[in-house]
Amino acid sequence: MQTIRVETPSAKYEVVTGSGLLETLAPRIERAVGRLPRRVFVLTSPEIWALWGHCMERSFGDAPVVLFLPAGERYKTIASVERLTREMVQAGGDRGSLLIAFGGGIVGDVGGFLAAIFMRGISYVQVPTTLLAQVDSSVGGKVGVNLPEGKNLVGNFLQPCAVFADIDVLGTLPDRELRAGLMESVKAGIIRDRALVRFMEEHADEVLARDAKALERVIAASIRIKADVVRRDERESGPRMVLNWGHTVGHALEQATHYKTMLHGEAVGWGMVAALHVARMRGTITGAQMERMEKLIHSYGPLPKLKVSAARVLAATGSDKKNVGGVRRFVLPVGIGDAGVVEDVGPEELEAAVKYMLVRARTAS
Ligand SMILES: NC(=O)c1ccc[n+]([C@@H]2O[C@H](COP(=O)([O-])OP(=O)(O)OC[C@H]3O[C@@H](n4cnc5c(N)ncnc54)[C@H](O)[C@@H]3O)[C@@H](O)[C@H]2O)c1
Ligand SMILES: [Zn+2]
Repeated sequence: MQTIRVETPSAKYEVVTGSGLLETLAPRIERAVGRLPRRVFVLTSPEIWALWGHCMERSFGDAPVVLFLPAGERYKTIASVERLTREMVQAGGDRGSLLIAFGGGIVGDVGGFLAAIFMRGISYVQVPTTLLAQVDSSVGGKVGVNLPEGKNLVGNFLQPCAVFADIDVLGTLPDRELRAGLMESVKAGIIRDRALVRFMEEHADEVLARDAKALERVIAASIRIKADVVRRDERESGPRMVLNWGHTVGHALEQATHYKTMLHGEAVGWGMVAALHVARMRGTITGAQMERMEKLIHSYGPLPKLKVSAARVLAATGSDKKNVGGVRRFVLPVGIGDAGVVEDVGPEELEAAVKYMLVRARTAS
């Protein structure tokens, strides 16, 4: 078990990762928030509750009120938030209530947003159940929902009171979800932690076989990186940008394929391949380093085939909402374990990178 402290200007909290956390959740939350309030809500999906609800519920004296959000991006909406807030009022929720977001990144983002606006704000705890949510979305306080016009366009920043990332729940996670989530750990290692890169290179088999020790090592290191970046830039005005390494082209791929065929982590996997090309051309990484990082990305694949044209992907990069005032901010690895943000990546450079990625996607096994 490992505990990582997150400190931002707005909050201080602990992220705990290890085995057996669900069974001891209530006393752990109690320790984090002082005293359990009269009304505790759990937001989850029917599938996750069927698999793991009994484990979590056991530790509570008074059973929490369970709220359900069906799985899928199409339910990450204001309509769901309205329904859920009404259910909370009807179940006696008040300003002192606590919400536990128990699920993947979607449940986490919607749960955090609910907590941010219910009765002008209540406390919440993240209990992430996907690898992506454990290493990325549950830490940092970005919460929100989608609009038909785009993803995550409505939301806020609200840090949780605590995060409990139980490795045991990953036992039922589909393999594809596990691998996609691990792309965020690969990303974190490449931009900030050489030792994590080395560990993920040397222990890919154990990590992918869900060996508890290996997973804990990767998850804790990834959280540490995220916590450190968030500490320095809670609202993503500068340094937090590095976490978007691989995401410019990654988001464009998701958008160009209408969020249907690719998981987020898979798109980021290809986005990192494209970004490596830009870094190599600019000389911030060597040819050998590029080869090593590409190999690492593929060892946590397979990444899906790409059935999009370079033009479609490039068009989609233009609408990346992280481009402040039209500046194309781009994160580049500097060697292995460091990264910087540049603002002058031109269309030709991006085009060459996307074309390189598409060639790799055709030739990758
Ligand atoms: N807030 C942030 O900083 C941040 C960062 C990255 C991503 N996100 C958001 O996270 C979302 C993606 O999250 P995700 O990848 O976790 O996807 P997800 O929440 O859709 O979960 C993936 C699937 O796995 C299932 N599942 C979850 N846990 C399981 C378990 N233990 N066993 C079996 N099945 C399980 C879910 O029901 C779902 O079908 C996106 O909406 C994205 O915008 C937010
Ligand atoms: Zn991501």
